Amino acid sequence: MKSYWLLGAGLLLMAVGALAGCTGGHATRPYSVAVDGSPQHGRELIVHYGCGACHTIPGIYTARGLVGPPLFFWSRRTMIAGELPNNPENLVRWIENPPAIEPGTAMPNLGVTPPQARDIAAYLYTLQ
Ligand code: HEC
Repeated sequence: MKSYWLLGAGLLLMAVGALAGCTGGHATRPYSVAVDGSPQHGRELIVHYGCGACHTIPGIYTARGLVGPPLFFWSRRTMIAGELPNNPENLVRWIENPPAIEPGTAMPNLGVTPPQARDIAAYLYTLQ
């Protein structure tokens, strides 16, 4: 009997924790941002363009770079490169041509096309 009681108490605590998580102060951004693109294709493009040479990116085994910031929890990040509010439109602009936004940045223009940048953004916004 006692173990049932403990199980019940544990479930209750988990439910309270989940509710607190929803109303918690830092969860102001939606966890998944709708982007008109294919996350699966975006993942392939990230490998193709070698983003992982400079970035550590969850879900991509070979993306272990340490030149740029790790892209953990991308959907929860507030800013892009400390320059732009993190939203799909700005992320696509950044991926297409970073030096146009931040002259002198170490992230090069890799020649990513707008539809490709949308797919890549769609993948990055799956990172919660
Ligand atoms: C040669 C290294 C290099 C490559 C390749 C590279 N990046 Fe970057 N990236 C950087 C650096 C350095 C920054 C930090 C820029 C800054 O803050 O000025 C950055 C910043 C970013 C940011 C913003 C990160 C943040 O914390 O705000 C994103 C998103 C990003 N890169 C995505 C990509 C994607 C997607 C690719 C592949 C298409 C890519 N990067 C390829 C070096 C690189």
